[in-house]
Amino acid sequence: MPKLIVGNWKMNGLQAESLERVEKLAAGVQGDASGSFHMVVCPPATLIAPVAAKLKDSVIRWGGQDCHAEASGAYTGDIAAPMLKDMGCDFVILGHSERRQHHGETSAEVAAKAKAAHASGLTAIICVGELDAQRSAGEQESVVGRQLAESIPDTASTENTVIAYEPVWAIGTGKTASADDIKQMHAFIRGKVGTLQILYGGSVKAANASEILHTENVDGVLVGGASLKADEFLGIAVAS
Ligand code: 13P
Repeated sequence: MPKLIVGNWKMNGLQAESLERVEKLAAGVQGDASGSFHMVVCPPATLIAPVAAKLKDSVIRWGGQDCHAEASGAYTGDIAAPMLKDMGCDFVILGHSERRQHHGETSAEVAAKAKAAHASGLTAIICVGELDAQRSAGEQESVVGRQLAESIPDTASTENTVIAYEPVWAIGTGKTASADDIKQMHAFIRGKVGTLQILYGGSVKAANASEILHTENVDGVLVGGASLKADEFLGIAVAS
């Protein structure tokens, strides 16, 4: 199965540089006939429409970084799943550790959001991962196991749900989990989620992508910082 290569741009980018980036990505992907990967970019909400316009004739798909559990209503500043779908999104990232940390999102809320995403025909990329202290205490599997049990709604299927394992201590730090740690955790997650695709995230870059993407039970990667540079992100994709 082709690997899923997802770029999470987080809160980065103005139009000019971002559109230049997607033009480079579209041209780069065009030249890769291997069919070994599917590429997805998740820009900030303000850039979804212009990015969609640039990518509409490309094989690259796009998604949002969050959605509300309700389809509409008095929720100032929030974005509903049908709005993402209306912009041509196929994916939405949910329960990212930055949202769990800075917005106090609980796994129950993540499950409700994922249900809303499914109802709109979006694929939910549900993020899980332990903190540094939890790994030091040997609690990584119990933490991730609980997040999986509570964040995945009963509407989830292989067609509409992808899991992203992102150890919090590896995000934006330049520290990646070792191949053994990734292998062990992905095997644990596989045991819980069956055939759902499982992505790894946390300081993935072109230089380490090949080893990570060829680790057992790694079906793709969720990339932050390195997805902001077209050459680097393409380098990750071709490593698949
Ligand atoms: P970095 O690739 O910058 O470590 O971020 C990972 C991430 O959080 C992707 O969602």
